[in-house]
Amino acid sequence: MSPVLRLEGLHKSFDNLEVLKGIDLEVARGEVVVLLGASGSGKSTMLRCINFMEMPTAGRIHFDGDLVGRERNGRVQYKEEELTRLRARVGMVFQQFNLFPHMTALQNVMEGPRTVLRCDARECQRRGETYLNKVGLGWKANDYPARLSGGQQQRVAIARALAMEPEIMLFDEATSALDPELVGEVLETMKGLAEEGKTMLIVTHELGFAYTVADRVLFLSEGRILEQGTPSEVLTYPKQQGTKNFLRGHGTFRLPEPQID
Ligand SMILES: Nc1ncnc2c1ncn2[C@@H]1O[C@H](COP(=O)(O)OP(=O)(O)OP(=O)(O)O)[C@@H](O)[C@H]1O
Ligand SMILES: [Mg+2]
Repeated sequence: MSPVLRLEGLHKSFDNLEVLKGIDLEVARGEVVVLLGASGSGKSTMLRCINFMEMPTAGRIHFDGDLVGRERNGRVQYKEEELTRLRARVGMVFQQFNLFPHMTALQNVMEGPRTVLRCDARECQRRGETYLNKVGLGWKANDYPARLSGGQQQRVAIARALAMEPEIMLFDEATSALDPELVGEVLETMKGLAEEGKTMLIVTHELGFAYTVADRVLFLSEGRILEQGTPSEVLTYPKQQGTKNFLRGHGTFRLPEPQID
Protein backbone atom coordinates (compact mmCIF):
# COMPACT_ATOMS: atom_id res chain seq x y z
CA MET A 1 0.00 0.00 0.00
CA SER A 2 1.33 3.48 -0.85
CA PRO A 3 2.26 5.74 2.02
CA VAL A 4 -0.25 8.53 2.64
CA LEU A 5 2.54 11.05 2.27
CA ARG A 6 5.94 10.84 0.65
CA LEU A 7 8.45 13.66 0.50
CA GLU A 8 11.36 13.27 -1.85
CA GLY A 9 14.28 15.68 -1.66
CA LEU A 10 12.13 18.52 -0.37
CA HIS A 11 13.95 21.86 -0.44
CA LYS A 12 12.69 25.26 0.57
CA SER A 13 14.58 28.54 0.43
CA PHE A 14 13.49 32.05 1.29
CA ASP A 15 15.69 34.31 -0.84
CA ASN A 16 19.21 33.28 0.14
CA LEU A 17 18.18 31.37 3.22
CA GLU A 18 17.99 27.64 2.60
CA VAL A 19 15.61 26.35 5.27
CA LEU A 20 14.88 22.79 4.10
CA LYS A 21 17.90 21.07 2.61
CA GLY A 22 16.51 17.84 1.23
CA ILE A 23 13.88 16.06 3.31
CA ASP A 24 12.94 12.48 2.49
CA LEU A 25 10.04 11.11 4.47
CA GLU A 26 7.27 8.55 4.16
CA VAL A 27 4.27 8.49 6.46
CA ALA A 28 2.27 5.27 6.37
CA ARG A 29 -1.50 5.07 6.80
CA GLY A 30 -2.33 5.25 10.49
CA GLU A 31 1.18 6.23 11.46
CA VAL A 32 1.83 8.95 14.06
CA VAL A 33 5.07 10.80 13.43
CA VAL A 34 6.39 13.45 15.82
CA LEU A 35 8.76 16.06 14.47
CA LEU A 36 11.16 17.66 16.93
CA GLY A 37 13.81 20.29 16.41
CA ALA A 38 15.21 23.54 17.73
CA SER A 39 13.56 26.85 16.95
CA GLY A 40 14.34 27.83 13.38
CA SER A 41 15.21 24.29 12.26
CA GLY A 42 12.40 24.35 9.67
CA LYS A 43 9.55 22.38 11.30
CA SER A 44 6.78 24.85 10.46
CA THR A 45 8.20 25.40 6.99
CA MET A 46 8.07 21.66 6.38
CA LEU A 47 4.41 21.39 7.44
CA ARG A 48 3.54 24.48 5.41
CA CYS A 49 5.15 22.97 2.30
CA ILE A 50 3.18 19.73 2.77
CA ASN A 51 -0.12 21.56 2.34
CA PHE A 52 1.34 24.07 -0.10
CA MET A 53 0.90 27.12 2.09
CA GLU A 54 4.54 27.53 1.02
CA MET A 55 5.68 26.35 -2.38
CA PRO A 56 8.63 23.93 -2.27
CA THR A 57 11.74 25.24 -4.01
CA ALA A 58 12.61 21.73 -5.20
CA GLY A 59 11.66 18.13 -4.57
CA ARG A 60 8.50 16.12 -4.88
CA ILE A 61 5.47 15.57 -2.68
CA HIS A 62 3.29 12.51 -3.22
CA PHE A 63 -0.10 11.75 -1.69
CA ASP A 64 -1.35 8.17 -1.83
CA GLY A 65 1.34 7.37 -4.36
CA ASP A 66 0.46 10.25 -6.72
CA LEU A 67 2.88 13.07 -7.43
CA VAL A 68 1.40 16.49 -6.73
CA GLY A 69 1.92 18.66 -9.80
CA ARG A 70 3.53 17.68 -13.09
CA GLU A 71 7.19 17.20 -13.65
CA ARG A 72 8.81 18.85 -16.68
CA ASN A 73 12.53 19.00 -17.28
CA GLY A 74 13.24 18.04 -13.70
CA ARG A 75 11.02 20.74 -12.17
CA VAL A 76 7.57 20.22 -10.74
CA GLN A 77 4.90 22.65 -11.86
CA TYR A 78 1.75 23.15 -9.89
CA LYS A 79 -1.77 24.20 -10.85
CA GLU A 80 -3.79 26.14 -8.36
CA GLU A 81 -6.92 23.93 -8.77
CA GLU A 82 -4.94 20.85 -7.90
CA LEU A 83 -3.44 22.53 -4.83
CA THR A 84 -6.87 23.67 -3.67
CA ARG A 85 -8.19 20.10 -3.92
CA LEU A 86 -5.14 18.80 -2.16
CA ARG A 87 -5.33 21.25 0.73
CA ALA A 88 -8.78 19.86 1.50
CA ARG A 89 -7.15 16.44 2.03
CA VAL A 90 -4.65 17.74 4.58
CA GLY A 91 -5.95 18.92 7.96
CA MET A 92 -3.87 21.53 9.72
CA VAL A 93 -3.98 22.69 13.33
CA PHE A 94 -1.88 25.69 14.36
CA GLN A 95 -0.69 27.19 17.60
CA GLN A 96 -3.17 30.05 17.07
CA PHE A 97 -6.57 28.46 16.58
CA ASN A 98 -8.09 31.38 14.59
CA LEU A 99 -11.72 30.36 14.87
CA PHE A 100 -14.23 32.63 13.19
CA PRO A 101 -15.38 34.80 16.14
CA HIS A 102 -18.82 35.53 14.67
CA MET A 103 -19.68 31.85 14.26
CA THR A 104 -20.67 29.33 16.91
CA ALA A 105 -18.50 26.28 17.58
CA LEU A 106 -20.80 24.19 15.38
CA GLN A 107 -20.81 26.74 12.54
CA ASN A 108 -17.00 26.89 12.69
CA VAL A 109 -16.80 23.13 12.23
CA MET A 110 -19.41 23.09 9.43
CA GLU A 111 -17.81 25.94 7.48
CA GLY A 112 -15.18 23.91 5.55
CA PRO A 113 -17.58 21.17 4.44
CA ARG A 114 -20.10 23.86 3.45
CA THR A 115 -17.87 26.26 1.51
CA VAL A 116 -14.95 24.11 0.33
CA LEU A 117 -16.52 20.68 -0.13
CA ARG A 118 -20.00 22.05 -0.91
CA CYS A 119 -21.69 19.34 1.13
CA ASP A 120 -25.47 19.63 1.45
CA ALA A 121 -26.99 21.02 4.64
CA ARG A 122 -27.65 17.58 6.13
CA GLU A 123 -24.11 16.40 5.57
CA CYS A 124 -22.69 19.65 7.00
CA GLN A 125 -24.83 19.19 10.10
CA ARG A 126 -23.78 15.55 10.40
CA ARG A 127 -20.10 16.38 10.14
CA GLY A 128 -20.40 19.34 12.50
CA GLU A 129 -22.06 17.27 15.19
CA THR A 130 -19.90 14.19 14.65
CA TYR A 131 -16.59 16.00 14.98
CA LEU A 132 -17.62 18.33 17.79
CA ASN A 133 -18.72 15.23 19.70
CA LYS A 134 -15.44 13.54 18.88
CA VAL A 135 -13.50 16.32 20.64
CA GLY A 136 -15.98 16.20 23.54
CA LEU A 137 -17.63 19.55 22.79
CA GLY A 138 -21.05 18.62 21.48
CA TRP A 139 -22.47 20.43 24.52
CA LYS A 140 -20.81 23.69 23.42
CA ALA A 141 -22.18 23.58 19.86
CA ASN A 142 -24.02 26.90 20.13
CA ASP A 143 -21.36 28.84 22.02
CA TYR A 144 -19.23 31.48 20.34
CA PRO A 145 -15.42 31.14 20.58
CA ALA A 146 -15.13 34.05 23.04
CA ARG A 147 -17.08 31.97 25.56
CA LEU A 148 -14.81 28.94 25.24
CA SER A 149 -11.53 28.34 27.07
CA GLY A 150 -8.33 28.24 25.05
CA GLY A 151 -8.25 24.46 25.29
CA GLN A 152 -11.86 24.22 24.12
CA GLN A 153 -11.16 26.62 21.24
CA GLN A 154 -8.24 24.48 20.15
CA ARG A 155 -10.42 21.36 20.32
CA VAL A 156 -12.98 23.12 18.08
CA ALA A 157 -10.12 23.93 15.70
CA ILE A 158 -9.21 20.22 15.67
CA ALA A 159 -12.85 19.32 14.98
CA ARG A 160 -12.89 21.90 12.18
CA ALA A 161 -9.88 20.22 10.55
CA LEU A 162 -11.36 16.73 11.08
CA ALA A 163 -14.67 17.76 9.50
CA MET A 164 -12.93 17.85 6.12
CA GLU A 165 -12.20 14.13 6.68
CA PRO A 166 -8.57 14.63 5.66
CA GLU A 167 -6.17 11.79 4.94
CA ILE A 168 -3.53 13.26 7.21
CA MET A 169 -3.59 15.73 10.09
CA LEU A 170 -0.69 18.12 10.63
CA PHE A 171 -0.28 19.77 14.03
CA ASP A 172 2.10 22.70 14.49
CA GLU A 173 2.68 23.25 18.21
CA ALA A 174 -1.04 22.96 18.85
CA THR A 175 -0.59 23.36 22.61
CA SER A 176 2.14 26.01 22.76
CA ALA A 177 -0.22 28.98 23.14
CA LEU A 178 -2.24 27.38 25.93
CA ASP A 179 -2.02 27.91 29.67
CA PRO A 180 -0.35 24.85 31.20
CA GLU A 181 -3.55 23.59 32.81
CA LEU A 182 -5.27 23.48 29.39
CA VAL A 183 -2.56 21.56 27.54
CA GLY A 184 -3.64 18.14 28.81
CA GLU A 185 -7.16 18.17 27.33
CA VAL A 186 -5.81 18.98 23.87
CA LEU A 187 -3.10 16.31 24.08
CA GLU A 188 -5.76 13.81 25.22
CA THR A 189 -7.86 14.69 22.16
CA MET A 190 -4.84 14.17 19.90
CA LYS A 191 -4.03 10.90 21.62
CA GLY A 192 -7.59 9.72 21.00
CA LEU A 193 -7.21 10.42 17.28
CA ALA A 194 -3.91 8.53 17.22
CA GLU A 195 -5.54 5.54 18.91
CA GLU A 196 -8.32 5.61 16.32
CA GLY A 197 -5.73 5.23 13.60
CA LYS A 198 -5.63 8.77 12.20
CA THR A 199 -2.47 9.49 10.22
CA MET A 200 -0.73 12.39 11.94
CA LEU A 201 2.42 14.45 11.63
CA ILE A 202 2.90 16.44 14.80
CA VAL A 203 5.32 19.21 15.74
CA THR A 204 5.42 19.46 19.52
CA HIS A 205 7.73 20.17 22.41
CA GLU A 206 5.73 17.81 24.64
CA LEU A 207 8.24 15.00 24.83
CA GLY A 208 6.22 12.88 27.24
CA PHE A 209 3.37 12.95 24.74
CA ALA A 210 5.79 12.11 21.90
CA TYR A 211 7.12 9.20 23.92
CA THR A 212 3.74 7.63 24.54
CA VAL A 213 1.86 8.49 21.32
CA ALA A 214 4.38 8.54 18.45
CA ASP A 215 5.16 5.52 16.31
CA ARG A 216 8.23 7.35 15.09
CA VAL A 217 10.13 10.44 16.16
CA LEU A 218 12.12 12.60 13.74
CA PHE A 219 14.70 15.12 14.83
CA LEU A 220 15.14 17.99 12.39
CA SER A 221 18.33 20.03 12.53
CA GLU A 222 19.18 22.89 10.20
CA GLY A 223 16.76 21.71 7.55
CA ARG A 224 17.75 18.05 7.54
CA ILE A 225 16.51 14.97 9.37
CA LEU A 226 19.43 14.33 11.66
CA GLU A 227 18.01 11.30 13.41
CA GLN A 228 14.84 9.22 13.48
CA GLY A 229 13.52 6.10 15.11
CA THR A 230 11.13 4.81 17.73
CA PRO A 231 10.45 7.16 20.65
CA SER A 232 12.79 5.10 22.79
CA GLU A 233 15.58 5.19 20.20
CA VAL A 234 15.44 8.95 19.71
CA LEU A 235 14.33 10.21 23.11
CA THR A 236 16.04 7.75 25.42
CA TYR A 237 19.05 6.58 23.44
CA PRO A 238 19.80 9.40 20.98
CA LYS A 239 22.88 8.78 18.85
CA GLN A 240 23.55 12.21 17.36
CA GLN A 241 25.13 14.99 19.36
CA GLY A 242 22.55 17.49 18.01
CA THR A 243 19.69 15.38 19.34
CA LYS A 244 21.43 14.95 22.69
CA ASN A 245 21.92 18.72 23.04
CA PHE A 246 18.28 19.39 22.18
CA LEU A 247 17.04 16.82 24.70
CA ARG A 248 19.35 18.19 27.39
CA GLY A 249 17.61 21.55 26.89
CA HIS A 250 14.25 19.90 27.57
CA GLY A 251 14.96 18.85 31.12
CA THR A 252 11.32 18.43 32.09
CA PHE A 253 10.94 15.22 30.09
CA ARG A 254 10.41 12.28 32.38
CA LEU A 255 10.30 8.69 31.25
CA PRO A 256 7.38 6.57 32.34
CA GLU A 257 8.14 4.88 35.67
CA PRO A 258 9.69 1.40 35.32
CA GLN A 259 7.02 -1.28 35.68
CA ILE A 260 8.23 -3.69 38.37
CA ASP A 261 6.04 -6.54 39.65
N1 LIG B 1 8.05 33.46 5.01
C1 LIG B 1 9.35 33.47 5.37
N2 LIG B 1 10.23 34.34 4.84
C2 LIG B 1 11.51 34.33 5.19
N3 LIG B 1 12.05 33.49 6.09
C3 LIG B 1 11.24 32.61 6.68
C4 LIG B 1 9.84 32.55 6.36
N4 LIG B 1 9.27 31.56 7.09
C5 LIG B 1 10.27 31.04 7.83
N5 LIG B 1 11.45 31.64 7.59
C6 LIG B 1 12.74 31.32 8.20
O1 LIG B 1 12.94 29.94 8.05
C7 LIG B 1 13.62 29.39 9.17
C8 LIG B 1 12.82 28.21 9.72
O2 LIG B 1 11.60 28.71 10.23
P1 LIG B 1 10.47 27.75 10.79
O3 LIG B 1 9.35 28.63 11.20
O4 LIG B 1 10.20 26.69 9.81
O5 LIG B 1 11.19 27.12 12.05
P2 LIG B 1 10.59 26.21 13.22
O6 LIG B 1 11.45 24.99 13.31
O7 LIG B 1 9.14 26.01 13.01
O8 LIG B 1 10.87 27.10 14.51
P3 LIG B 1 9.97 27.32 15.84
O9 LIG B 1 10.28 26.15 16.75
O10 LIG B 1 10.49 28.60 16.42
O11 LIG B 1 8.53 27.40 15.44
C9 LIG B 1 13.81 30.54 10.16
O12 LIG B 1 15.09 31.04 10.01
C10 LIG B 1 12.77 31.55 9.70
O13 LIG B 1 13.16 32.85 10.01
MG1 LIG C 1 7.45 26.60 14.04
